[in-house]
Amino acid sequence: MNGRLEGRRIIVFGSATGIGAATVRRLAAEGARVCAADINLTGAQSVAEEAGGDTFAVAVDISEEASVTSAVEAAIERFGGLDGAHINAADLRVIMHDSDALEIDLEVFDRTIAVNLRGHLLCTRAVIPHLVKNSASAIVYTSSGSAYGGEPTRPSYAMSKAGVNALMRHVAARWGREGVTANVIAPGFTVTGEMRLQMEANASEPQKWSEHFMSRTPHTRLGESEDHAAVAALLLSDDGRWINGAVLDVNGGSLMRS
Ligand SMILES: NC(=O)c1ccc[n+]([C@@H]2O[C@H](COP(=O)([O-])OP(=O)(O)OC[C@H]3O[C@@H](n4cnc5c(N)ncnc54)[C@H](O)[C@@H]3O)[C@@H](O)[C@H]2O)c1
Repeated sequence: MNGRLEGRRIIVFGSATGIGAATVRRLAAEGARVCAADINLTGAQSVAEEAGGDTFAVAVDISEEASVTSAVEAAIERFGGLDGAHINAADLRVIMHDSDALEIDLEVFDRTIAVNLRGHLLCTRAVIPHLVKNSASAIVYTSSGSAYGGEPTRPSYAMSKAGVNALMRHVAARWGREGVTANVIAPGFTVTGEMRLQMEANASEPQKWSEHFMSRTPHTRLGESEDHAAVAALLLSDDGRWINGAVLDVNGGSLMRS
């Protein structure tokens, strides 16, 4: 692995499992110093240990402003500054109850927005004052193809992700001239390590989704966490410097937009 992120100081919100965990491993492998922040501290700690280098874990609930502030402070204390952030966390426990606009329990809607959208705003507010101190820094958000896919279910999730795309464009427009780029990775259906375990155990829901998405994906395989980690590393490096304000579809072609 090349060292194009050598010495870069990056915080990853939502790093204990899946795409965020793969991103922590990838950034560390490319030489970054990484703060792995997650509500699941034990998970983040084992990811940090596995990633090696100057990587450490911190507990954060991104729906709580004080928690976000103290996680960012921990990163600043350890690294002396920040060059990048990957804001990736989402509360996916409630997604199975995200039914439709008539039926949805508003608590499911509120929780989804509190973490997936308001939480991303809180993380943005906490990192920008540090990122603007550098001439070149970057924020990468994870949203989803569901932001524009149009689906009969998951309205709260889709609304939260469309909001993240809007937040990203605002940040790119407002802070681009101060050296902060902002971009979104919009994953298509992605088989995370956890999902793979469920599929191997023959859980019907992930199997069903995986067959459904494979039939709609003009590719040889479904996406994996590492596919998104590679794009996050690009966007956080000098190789991605001229990319700003973009939503990058990382989906094997399952959803093509002009
Ligand atoms: N896997 C997919 O098919 C897929 C598709 C499209 C978009 N995404 C998006 O990719 C991102 C990562 O998803 P994933 O599939 O890796 O799922 P995941 O559940 O493995 O990762 C989400 C991480 O966020 C953390 N988290 C949850 N609530 C939090 C909170 N309040 N504060 C801090 N951390 C919190 C979880 O502990 C977990 O580590 C999410 O934003 C998700 O919406 C995933």
